[in-house]
Amino acid sequence: MVLKTLPLNTRNNEPVRDLQSVVERRGLTRVRAHLAKARMWLRPELDAFEQVLDDARGPHGNLAQRAATHLLAQPGKRIRPICVALGARMGDEVPLDVVAELAAAAELTHTATLLHDDVIDLADTRRGAPSSRVVFGNAASVLAGDHLLMAALRRVDAAGIDGARERLMATIEHMIEAECIQLETHGRFEPDRETYHAIISGKTASLFRWCLEAGGLASGLPSEDVETLGRVGAAIGFAFQIVDDALDIDGDPAVTGKPLGGDIREGKLTWPMIVACERDPMLAVRLREAFSRRATLDDAEVERVRKEIVELGAFDATRERARAFARSAQCELATLPHGEARRALEAVASACVTRLG
Ligand code: IPE
Ligand code: IPE
Ligand code: MG
Ligand code: MG
Repeated sequence: MVLKTLPLNTRNNEPVRDLQSVVERRGLTRVRAHLAKARMWLRPELDAFEQVLDDARGPHGNLAQRAATHLLAQPGKRIRPICVALGARMGDEVPLDVVAELAAAAELTHTATLLHDDVIDLADTRRGAPSSRVVFGNAASVLAGDHLLMAALRRVDAAGIDGARERLMATIEHMIEAECIQLETHGRFEPDRETYHAIISGKTASLFRWCLEAGGLASGLPSEDVETLGRVGAAIGFAFQIVDDALDIDGDPAVTGKPLGGDIREGKLTWPMIVACERDPMLAVRLREAFSRRATLDDAEVERVRKEIVELGAFDATRERARAFARSAQCELATLPHGEARRALEAVASACVTRLG
């Protein structure tokens, strides 16, 4: 997980905020140490996973393979493979190649959805580099995503864990459904918490859920523990996506690898936007009107709205919302066997809230 030095958010110079930043920075150091430890501990699984993923890369394949390789060549945070590996450490010992195949299935599914997502969101930058759709075109990026979804299904088959393939296919269906809802609500700015919940449950939480369930299934956990792990994964995924929304408002593009304000430009229903529109209903009216005339906002409008969202306190409310999901993940974890994997998952949940990239 990318956790660089904290750019303290002391923009308003408020003492309370400064204090919160100090507390968060201390917490961050502890979380970072836990995560570094988890990464060391999971080294065998993560190395084996990287090898499997290497097989999916190939600069000389067809157009779809080349467009996929462009994104695969810039590694992300690997949070989903870490979740698979931690799920697999919760029960009986799992052969390394099985963990590696499941982790690769997760990362390939994730990468596929990024390739599709950048076409849907018209995103030009991903992981600090031009997105595949910019380099190879939208059509190639769609085909690259399809290619990686097939590769993910092949990897989950290779793992040979009962139920893992069916659950992954249901997850992919859930992701598609959520992207459809997101598309249909584009530019409407109804501050509708339920719709938002449905969107992020499908587009993000479902894959985190699968990661922990797949790891748990592989390690032979009883079904109630697998289901608990699934709920832990979903809560982590909710926190992760809510913070992604926050980073669109106040992140550092050098760390996130994505420009600020992309969600605003695209008219996306994010958590900070919901909070801002609840607090200032006229903001929703103005935005709806602007989006009825065109599909995206220009840079000056994006910056104005971004500042309004921060001034309405929606940014802080968003981190708080993510924190609530991390706490819920930690409560669910408390019912699972105590040990190193459980502690590491608690740290992952915290890191999803304090992350800067
Ligand atoms: C980006 O996921 C898409 C979301 C679900 C927010 P990540 O932030 O995990 O992307 P990478 O893999 O680290 O680039
Ligand atoms: C998550 O939503 C996308 C997927 C789960 C594929 P976003 O659209 O917010 O993700 P980013 O910000 O582009 O990474
Ligand atoms: Mg996007
Ligand atoms: Mg985003």
